[in-house]
Amino acid sequence: MLNIGLLGLGTVGTGIVQILEERKKYLEKLIKQEISISKILVKDIDKKRDIEIDKEKLTTDIYEIIEDDNIDIIIEVLGGLDNPYYYIKEALNKGKDVITANKAVVAKHLEELTNLAKAKNKSFLYEASVGGGIPIIKPLKEQVNINQIQEIRGILNGTSNYILTKMISENLDFQEALETSQRLGYAEANPTDDIEGYDTRRKLRILSTIAFKDKIDEEDISCYGINSINFSDIKNIKSMSCTVKLLGTAIVNDNKYYASVEPVIVSQNSYFSKVDDANNLVSFIGDNVGELRFFGEGAGRFPTANAVLSDLIDITSNTYQRNCFLENSELDNINELYRGKY
Ligand code: NDP
Ligand code: HSE
Repeated sequence: MLNIGLLGLGTVGTGIVQILEERKKYLEKLIKQEISISKILVKDIDKKRDIEIDKEKLTTDIYEIIEDDNIDIIIEVLGGLDNPYYYIKEALNKGKDVITANKAVVAKHLEELTNLAKAKNKSFLYEASVGGGIPIIKPLKEQVNINQIQEIRGILNGTSNYILTKMISENLDFQEALETSQRLGYAEANPTDDIEGYDTRRKLRILSTIAFKDKIDEEDISCYGINSINFSDIKNIKSMSCTVKLLGTAIVNDNKYYASVEPVIVSQNSYFSKVDDANNLVSFIGDNVGELRFFGEGAGRFPTANAVLSDLIDITSNTYQRNCFLENSELDNINELYRGKY
């Protein structure tokens, strides 16, 4: 029996419970054991939920989950920074595998948590932390084994892309579009992170660290959001037959890397201009493989829960090399090559 401790039952947590219920038989056959969500951490046990849930499983006490020796895997979908970081660390220390969708924690503590998982011979996986439902971390980790990655570029935030799409195509005002994206479950608890570019910056830090095999701190990435874009800007951009997108870009050039998050005016011929609503598009260029592009739903209940559960399958079926991005010794020399910024 595989016992899961689920931290959080909001947009993503609810999707995880729903998919696990719907696909239970198939998943159990795939991983060759029964699956049970044993306990779920929430803030308010009596809150009205979108799904029927056995209240006996709900707890507000993290230690009931972390100290339960029968729980094998922790899935963290709480949001926030300090508490989830502490819970993940404690869980790894207690010998549990951990999956998270939490960009804030991964961006801040990627190396430490990966090394801790490695030391404990456990997995720390975070596919849902970048690109919602799009598989991007796993393909990138696979490609860095045989490529030097030269560039990553992407629309990495569903909320801001949704807002820009609605402002351009439906003349919605900023606030109205933001409120709709919050209702649809795309936005962070504090949507400032979405609209001021910090969420994109976290995702870019995660991707570029994996891609360039060097620690690229959030603070090293210049960051401008979409919050100052107004109707007159939109009118001007449309009059040029262009559109505007919040792009994260990380480029290695002349032995230095450059990384930024900023709204960019793109022509209607650009593939980025076709990315509407809360979709994301991530492209990376490797020296062997050339450009690879990944497109899909960048936020929302089921796409994100799907990404979390693909990590669960990887852990339980051992189909994936654990914590592999720090283990690529053959290419270690590029750490030196890539250091430096301009
Ligand atoms: P929600 O705000 O919808 O849900 C958060 C859940 O965590 C709720 O069930 C809440 O409990 C519980 N919770 C929050 N704080 C505490 C606490 N201190 N103690 C106990 N329980 C707590 O968040 P989302 O599901 O949208 O997001 C979860 C994570 O996934 C975040 O890190 C987010 O960045 C990430 N993510 C989200 C995506 C999305 O599209 N929404 C996409 C990709 C990643 P209660 O229900 O009782 O209030
Ligand atoms: N708030 C995030 C977004 C969720 O809008 O992209 C997905 O990471």
